[in-house]
Amino acid sequence: MPEISTNYMGLKLKSPIIASSSGLTDTIEKLIDLEKSGVGAVVLKSIFEEEIIQHTQRSIEKMSASGFIYPETMEYFEYDYDEIEDPVQNYLKLISDAKKKLTIPVIASINCVSENGWDDFAHVIEKAGADALELNIFLLPSDSTRSADDNEKIYFEAIKRVLAKVKIPVSIKLGPYASNLAALLEKLSKTGIAGLVLFNRSYNTDFDINTLEFTNSSVLTTPADIYHSLRWVALMSGKVKCSLAASTGVHDGAGLIKMLLAGASTVQVASTLYRNGNGQVAKMISELTHWMNEQGYKNLSEFSGKMSYTKTYNPAAFERIQFMQQYRNYGK
Ligand SMILES: Cc1cc2nc3c(=O)[nH]c(=O)nc-3n(C[C@H](O)[C@H](O)[C@H](O)COP(=O)(O)O)c2cc1C
Repeated sequence: MPEISTNYMGLKLKSPIIASSSGLTDTIEKLIDLEKSGVGAVVLKSIFEEEIIQHTQRSIEKMSASGFIYPETMEYFEYDYDEIEDPVQNYLKLISDAKKKLTIPVIASINCVSENGWDDFAHVIEKAGADALELNIFLLPSDSTRSADDNEKIYFEAIKRVLAKVKIPVSIKLGPYASNLAALLEKLSKTGIAGLVLFNRSYNTDFDINTLEFTNSSVLTTPADIYHSLRWVALMSGKVKCSLAASTGVHDGAGLIKMLLAGASTVQVASTLYRNGNGQVAKMISELTHWMNEQGYKNLSEFSGKMSYTKTYNPAAFERIQFMQQYRNYGK
């Protein structure tokens, strides 16, 4: 049996498949099932910046009402573990329960759109026992009055604040929108973060042409959604100074193998587990090991990044956006 363990952000994972942050990672029962399925790590469902800020404000109000507000007591009171149940308490309990019950690494996740107001919570997450922290910062550059730098500054400021507060590895999960994506990813990878997750999937807005009501576009991906992440993992894997996790559109063994060949050290999966159940993890692992046997590979490092931009025989394949030949001959 070939060896499929991998190193992700300095954490040793027994398999390169990570259960992505989603509704599949929000209870201890689901996490235990995921560990049994063979995933190498779990990313917990994100807690949102707004939930953290609301919790903090409520705690401060309580402190002022009781006349008990000193700067040195803030940290304790902001995150009082014994308070009534709320999303923040539940989140911290999920982390500590997961650490008690699982042997695989537990990665917490904060979904944020600004750089402050929530950053102290990173430290609390670390104290609760998380092995790593993923920051889901997904900025849509839709405000034309802001410069690209104004927009992207949020990533760097958030990272600076969080890295000053925790020792656990931190990764950034981001979307594909940036003025110069390659430069941004390279720069981010040099800030001290341990991983980049390429990419988060956007919530796509849609509306009904008869009622003009907004509707949900498809929440789950299909295998055809893999190509954007595949291109960027391949382009960046030889250039960034941190681990890469591939996310979006990885549904099967072939998708997993492609991402490893492109240079990802792990893949994160959600939609395929929603569609096919946790048994899909074992199926993907079996497809991977079967392929490794056929190719004569004994471990992942023997082929990791072999099809990346820096190592492949044809790097232009990742850079040409429109291939003349492909368009000219299509349908002939
Ligand atoms: C129902 C659902 C809930 C999700 N919730 C979160 C979340 O809380 N935080 C997050 O970072 N990503 C969340 N995601 C995004 C996934 O982690 C993942 O990045 C995305 O689904 C693309 O991967 P996939 O093609 O394997 O589904 C969610 C996805 C789904 C389908």
